Amino acid sequence: MLLGKRAVITGGGQGIGKGIARRLLAEGWKVVLAEHDAEAGEQAVRELAPLGELHFIATDVASEAEVANLAQEVLATFGGLDLLVNNAGIMIRKPLTELSPEEWQRVLGVNLTGPFLCARAFAPALRQAGGAIVNIASTRAHMSEPDTEAYAASKGGLVALTHALAVSLGPQVRVNCISPGWIDVSAWHKGGVAGQEPLSTADHRQHPAGRVGIPEDVAALACWLAAEESGFVTGAEFVLDGGMTRKMIYA
Ligand SMILES: NC(=O)c1ccc[n+]([C@@H]2O[C@H](COP(=O)([O-])OP(=O)(O)OC[C@H]3O[C@@H](n4cnc5c(N)ncnc54)[C@H](O)[C@@H]3O)[C@@H](O)[C@H]2O)c1
Repeated sequence: MLLGKRAVITGGGQGIGKGIARRLLAEGWKVVLAEHDAEAGEQAVRELAPLGELHFIATDVASEAEVANLAQEVLATFGGLDLLVNNAGIMIRKPLTELSPEEWQRVLGVNLTGPFLCARAFAPALRQAGGAIVNIASTRAHMSEPDTEAYAASKGGLVALTHALAVSLGPQVRVNCISPGWIDVSAWHKGGVAGQEPLSTADHRQHPAGRVGIPEDVAALACWLAAEESGFVTGAEFVLDGGMTRKMIYA
């Protein structure tokens, strides 16, 4: 029974993280959104609080001091932790020769150092609770479009960090990652869908599954990975992309 278990979702104020928060709340979890965008975090709490116990803690996951503060506040509020979802992520898409070392470091800082800092800060509590970590990587860990070096490298690193953590923190803590493909998060943003181009039929049809993904797809898998039912699963990567990385695309 999951009732009363406690989760932290980084970047949970919008997009996939918010979708995971809604699902966990509906299943009886208590949730903290560790979100960098205060407006998004506060709006998500207003929207989702009727579903259960939900808190927002302003956090930049790339900052060691802010993650230490997050851990302190979470443990003071919940007295422990059962699930960490490392979801916060950013992309800077720029030609290689224009990408500055500072931009490279920022992407690595949020997408890879952030999960390391959060895993380190919450490891003792997760061990004590027999908890789980779910990292949100990307199919871009395995394939690329041009001008995405920092993002691809950060997600490849996150897939590797997943198995390293699984081996270090087991058997008490299971650590897995989800690598989503195209997930349409437009309905889950603080500004809503207004002004955004709707997806085309071709956008959906190119997927072997017949459609673009939605945050609920990721949330369902994250919830299963957090549950005792998946107790024999650790160190694994789950590609959740409607089949796109299995499709040959020669022109
Ligand atoms: N949407 C997709 O198609 C897709 C595909 C593959 C992987 N992903 C990954 O899924 C995760 C969520 O993506 P999304 O599409 O929901 O993105 P999003 O931009 O909609 O949401 C990300 C959230 O993270 C927050 N955030 C950014 N930097 C942060 C920081 N330093 N500290 C704390 N919070 C921070 C943002 O404010 C935002 O609310 C990311 O890791 C992303 O790389 C998304």
